[in-house]
Amino acid sequence: MTILATRNDVEIKNVVKRFGSNTVLNGINLEIKQGELLTLLGPSGCGKTTTLNLIAGFLEADEGDVYIKGKNVTHIPPYKRDLGMVFQTYSLFPHMTVYENLDFGLRLRKVPKPKKQNRIARALDLVKMSGLEHRYPRELSGGQRQRVAIARALVVEPELLLLDEPLSNLDAKLRHELRAEIKRLQKEIGVTTIFVTHDQEEALSMSDRVVVMNGGKIEQISSPTTIYNHPETEFVFQFIGKSNCFHGTVAEINNRKISVQLEDGWVTFVDADNIMGSERTCRPGDEVKLYIRPEKLSLASAEQSGHLEHFHKATITQMNYLGASWEIDATLLGKSVQILTPMYDASWQIGKEVMIGWNPSDIMLIKK
Ligand SMILES: Nc1ncnc2c1ncn2[C@@H]1O[C@H](COP(=O)(O)OP(=O)(O)O)[C@@H](O)[C@H]1O
Ligand SMILES: [Mg+2]
Repeated sequence: MTILATRNDVEIKNVVKRFGSNTVLNGINLEIKQGELLTLLGPSGCGKTTTLNLIAGFLEADEGDVYIKGKNVTHIPPYKRDLGMVFQTYSLFPHMTVYENLDFGLRLRKVPKPKKQNRIARALDLVKMSGLEHRYPRELSGGQRQRVAIARALVVEPELLLLDEPLSNLDAKLRHELRAEIKRLQKEIGVTTIFVTHDQEEALSMSDRVVVMNGGKIEQISSPTTIYNHPETEFVFQFIGKSNCFHGTVAEINNRKISVQLEDGWVTFVDADNIMGSERTCRPGDEVKLYIRPEKLSLASAEQSGHLEHFHKATITQMNYLGASWEIDATLLGKSVQILTPMYDASWQIGKEVMIGWNPSDIMLIKK
């Protein structure tokens, strides 16, 4: 048995998982730090649940190894791993009360009665369910059931908490509430947690680090702000938020500023730090795509546009009021672009000409 440094609570090394001829995880490497809340984020079918099941021991890897607290658990069954799990669908025992649901795992672990009562009371208090010990799952709302499921996972004081889309079946308001609650709980208890979701907002708002997965591979592992502002691949950029895309050709590179000639001959600059893709370099003559997020584009009248390094004439084609912001479509360089802005100017009207501006630090570049 190999003992690794205990700095990481979980390590996944070169893991490959196949179902028949279908390779669903293709060389996964991942390290999860002690006390960290790490999210696996990606579209349906990318291999998130499979990764979680490999950590839990419900599946075995075809290649590679899984370590928990430095111990190689690749061939160790789930019941010998010290884990708490919460799934997307309510996994409470329907014929047991809330108290009995929490008691179940403690009985298996032969925790003595007075200690058990204390731990159940504390777990229910943590998820704000005290007083409902004698209810059956059918007597609880969806959000309450997921709270109990979380309490049941926590009451055994696991080394590792695994949550597979636990909020997906709840309505938006409840999802927001529980999101914040799980984050608070996790920090309070300090339990190392892996949270699976396909919802980018959920991942960004909850995680210490986000793992973006695509087609059985990891695209990027970074903090939420880096994932959003400095995506390393085109997939991450597009999956995480909305985007505007322009096509162009690299004209020259000077002092880490890349000048790109757009389709109509117009030139803009891009920071060399903002190159995506595996090479992270480009040369004059390269065909490239430029990406910019809608909220990084500014709308201004001609007089106001001075603070932006680059601006260009555009025509407004559509305006949608979203409450906290406006979503404005415009035609820029013959293309439709979207701008998201909290500001409103009465002179902005459909058909009106405006200036659209941006800063080179907000544009991401990828070679075609
Ligand atoms: N038990 C299984 N047998 C065969 N194929 C499976 C099995 N479980 C998952 N898959 C396939 O593996 C891929 C990844 O699935 P999964 O890990 O559940 O994705 P995610 O959780 O990201 O939606 C999918 O293509 C899925 O159809
Ligand atoms: Mg899944």
